[in-house]
Amino acid sequence: MDSILVTGNGPLNGQIPIAGAKNACLTLMPATLLSEEPLTLTNAPRLSDIKTMTALLQSLGAEVSSLQDGQVLAMSSHDLTSHTADYEIVRKMRASNLVLGPLLARFGEAVVSLPGGCAIGARPMDLHVEGLEALGAEIELEDGYLHAKVPGGLKGAVHEMRFASVGATENIVMAATLAKGTTVLKNAAREPEIVDLVECLRKMGAQISGEGTSTIEIQGVDRLHGATHQVVTDRIELGTYMLAPAICGGEVELLGGRMSLVSSFAEKLDAAGVSVTETDKGLKVARKNGRVRSVDVVTEPFPGFPTDLQAQMMALMCTAEGTSVLEERIFENRFMHAPELVRMGANIEVHGGTATVTGVDQLKGAPVMATDLRASVSLILAGLAAEGETTVSRVYHLDRGYEHVVRKLEGVGAKIERIKGQ
Ligand code: EPZ
Repeated sequence: MDSILVTGNGPLNGQIPIAGAKNACLTLMPATLLSEEPLTLTNAPRLSDIKTMTALLQSLGAEVSSLQDGQVLAMSSHDLTSHTADYEIVRKMRASNLVLGPLLARFGEAVVSLPGGCAIGARPMDLHVEGLEALGAEIELEDGYLHAKVPGGLKGAVHEMRFASVGATENIVMAATLAKGTTVLKNAAREPEIVDLVECLRKMGAQISGEGTSTIEIQGVDRLHGATHQVVTDRIELGTYMLAPAICGGEVELLGGRMSLVSSFAEKLDAAGVSVTETDKGLKVARKNGRVRSVDVVTEPFPGFPTDLQAQMMALMCTAEGTSVLEERIFENRFMHAPELVRMGANIEVHGGTATVTGVDQLKGAPVMATDLRASVSLILAGLAAEGETTVSRVYHLDRGYEHVVRKLEGVGAKIERIKGQ
């Protein structure tokens, strides 16, 4: 297994290009199952999760061609041959469950493995099931697989989700595009990735309104046609790299960044003493003056503070002046980066869903282990600011969500290299 060696090297300066959003691409790709005509995605990120989704779609009989070094995905699901998403694939990547809604809408049946637990939490699918059942699906759990079918075809309905689940919103919206009649989805997730999905579905002929708000209305249509869609910028990669100059000093411009994607995050950075300004190319980030100050964080569904930036923000707070309290309200076990940061000299106390971080003057490089995607990059951020060398192991987690992380950080002056595993 490869590892990444980071050596604290002072302020960072320059530009970092931000890629297309992993979490948008992972819901846009299954949308190809909704139509017999080709769907092409541009600005796709080059990530292992995208390769996993590609393999899943191909296992269903879809054609997926990766062009222009992976930035264009040309897909066609004219002749699907299976409607089963295997445990082996779903186990590796929970987002595989996003084929459930499209398969039901197109095929009238689907067999999708339950993802099983993952490092950050149980991550059940009850909200997906409840929403699809509201549309007329009959779903049984057998041998770890959800067996779903729709004897009379999906029918539009009014359904209120108990929690604004991102994935459940995506599955229900995709299914509703081909249901008979109107669906009103209440307490829908409002993430930019949902907005991006709806914009793509609309290009395919779907009749949808309300995306980005808590109530999405979908008028079912008989069929969807092909389209070409540009994947929205990745707000989590954007937020992650905004923290690089915040933790190291210097000034970095994030190309393709937009304030609307990270407004609550940018507000927190501003309160911590980090300026974020929009330029014609993206977002420019720099400390306002000297050491950042501690701020408190509570993770919430969009537009609140993103849970996917909590680990990275914790790394910054480890070096801040004062004490910050980070409350993780979305996942039940998303502080596994904390003990690794403590190995670097951080002062963190975790009690249940709350972590109290008292900033220290200087983190010290150390060998640490990545435990999940966002934790891995939080350790790299800490290593950039630490004195001495930090080796982050198990970087396969990193490859799931960050393309060319070494090249992007080297480009702004970081001392970082990837060490090939034996
Ligand atoms: C999406 O996961 C993202 N993944 C996650 O990003 C992100 O952390 C999460 O949304 C929250 O923003 C993708 O988009 C591929 P949820 P998702 O359904 O859809 C519980 C990353 O790092 N829940 O909004 O799975 C669940 O257990 C990943 O890129 C149920 O209880 O998130 C969790 O506690 C990590 N029942 C909470 O809701 C359900 O049926 C949020 O889950 C579904 C979810």
